[in-house]
Amino acid sequence: MSEVFEFTGDFLKEAERNIAKYPADRKQSAVLALLFLAQEQNHEDGHYVTQAAMRTISEMLEMPYIRVMEVATFFTMVNLKPVGKFHVQLCGTTPCMLRGAEALMDAVKEKFGIGHGETTEDKLFTLTEVECLGACSNAPMVQINDDYFEDLTPETLISVMETLKGGGDPTIGSQMGRASSEPFGGPMTLTTGPGAQTADAPNAPKETPVYIGPGE
Ligand code: FES
Repeated sequence: MSEVFEFTGDFLKEAERNIAKYPADRKQSAVLALLFLAQEQNHEDGHYVTQAAMRTISEMLEMPYIRVMEVATFFTMVNLKPVGKFHVQLCGTTPCMLRGAEALMDAVKEKFGIGHGETTEDKLFTLTEVECLGACSNAPMVQINDDYFEDLTPETLISVMETLKGGGDPTIGSQMGRASSEPFGGPMTLTTGPGAQTADAPNAPKETPVYIGPGE
């Protein structure tokens, strides 16, 4: 672990830009942005925030080191120890759990030998169970680095990870082929009238609904 950390190049410019967003006596508000920047600058070396980085941030923002650490330890998006080249953040919150998140964890354990908080020996994958990532309607899902992989089964998750391992680019988003969070088979509402999404959706009303509002 490096004992010294300084922002450099574009990371320094971006850190200064974030600090300048706030009044001088409120520049601590930039702490999370600077933690993310420090993590990104350390991308090739474990993609995590070192203690040296937190000390530098505390000095830049003129706030106690412990306050920086409080923020860093609160958010799971801030890594406090090195992670693999691909950081698999698996959502274990209720909608994903009900849709099979535990089976995904088991599949990764069986195929790659890692559980929550563990990294493969080749440093390729780290698995972390996290709370809701905001893609509940496409549960179960994982975030790998900056991409979401949704509507997963154990087989499709392993396939995604094997593609990454082989240097390929797996399809991001739904692994069942639906567009974003639309129903399978396409839209079923707002299918007629101005802005209609499709004329022949399966549940499309046969006539344009008549709006009946207050006073009519
Ligand atoms: S519960 Fe998994 S994304 Fe929300």
